[in-house]
Amino acid sequence: MPYLDNFNRPISYLRVSVTDRCNLRCVYCMPPEGVPWRPHEEILRYEEIELIVRAATSLGISKVRLTGGEPLVRLGLVELVHKLAHIPGIDDLAMTTNGTLLARYAAELAQAGLRRVNVSLDTLRPERFRRITRRGNLAAVFEGIAAAREAGLVPLKVNMVMVRGLNDDEVVDFARLTLEGDWHVRFIELMPLGANAAWAGDGYVSVGEARRRIEAAFGELLPAKVRVGNGPARYYRLSGAAGTIGFISPVSEHFCYRCNRLRLTADGRLRPCLLSDYEIDLRTPLRLGADLAEIRGLLIRSIGTKPERHHLGESIAPRERAMSEIGG
Ligand code: 5AD
Ligand code: SF4
Repeated sequence: MPYLDNFNRPISYLRVSVTDRCNLRCVYCMPPEGVPWRPHEEILRYEEIELIVRAATSLGISKVRLTGGEPLVRLGLVELVHKLAHIPGIDDLAMTTNGTLLARYAAELAQAGLRRVNVSLDTLRPERFRRITRRGNLAAVFEGIAAAREAGLVPLKVNMVMVRGLNDDEVVDFARLTLEGDWHVRFIELMPLGANAAWAGDGYVSVGEARRRIEAAFGELLPAKVRVGNGPARYYRLSGAAGTIGFISPVSEHFCYRCNRLRLTADGRLRPCLLSDYEIDLRTPLRLGADLAEIRGLLIRSIGTKPERHHLGESIAPRERAMSEIGG
């Protein structure tokens, strides 16, 4: 049974950022010059991550998602997947990736025990992709998605962060994908985070607006019966569609009351809330020789500090880290 926090929320899910590095520079995530990468010694080693995940399973955490930065830029990631997939008590191991390196790794990842992937993809137009990511090649992402499907990393979800004036005119195109095939597309509201809080003011598009545009184009969205994930998305289906449409609305409808997660940053801090800068250091105790029981105690302490809700509505947003360092 998962451990309960002070607000009776079962904590069953851990997001593990394996690196703060990324091969893209998405405009809403990073400043043009990038963020300074943390030095190698500050980043958790795979054995350290493994110990933390073992401690987490002893508290009933059974779902783990690897994030970044871009997880696949870290050397030897397949080895970490293999280690984590074989920990008793883990029943879902997934990854969030920008997809650019998936074509190379999908088969190995699946073989190592990864279950599924979410691909972050904000546009279906090659030139725009280059502009939003400041360097990426859209064709590589499509190849990555195809390879992931081939490898059985399904259901494969596509996450689209809506930004007004940047890609909001593609909401309908993304929704159309779900009519054309087995796509699970999720529309995400832009959150004000770190250095890029400015983007979130003018750029913000609500899920309600996306929904109205989709229904104007294709008719009513029907609640989807399937539960496709562990997260805060609400799922719908267009009539006759093979795929589903999900909405993630951190800004317009805070879903904190059903939050089930903890986050581990690449430099070894437990972050009980994405939208609060409060963190607990695990790396220092680990390097001083902490064992599983001690890490378990720190996990319990972190769960005990999980705030009831975020305060984005009152314009209180975290400042200390960019999204690329937390992993979404
Ligand atoms: N608001 C919402 N989502 C964001 N992401 C990155 N920055 C933001 C933001 N400010 C998304 C990425 C990716 C996931 C890890 O988080 O696009 O899908
Ligand atoms: Fe990289 Fe993801 Fe940030 Fe884009 S949003 S720069 S892919 S970490």
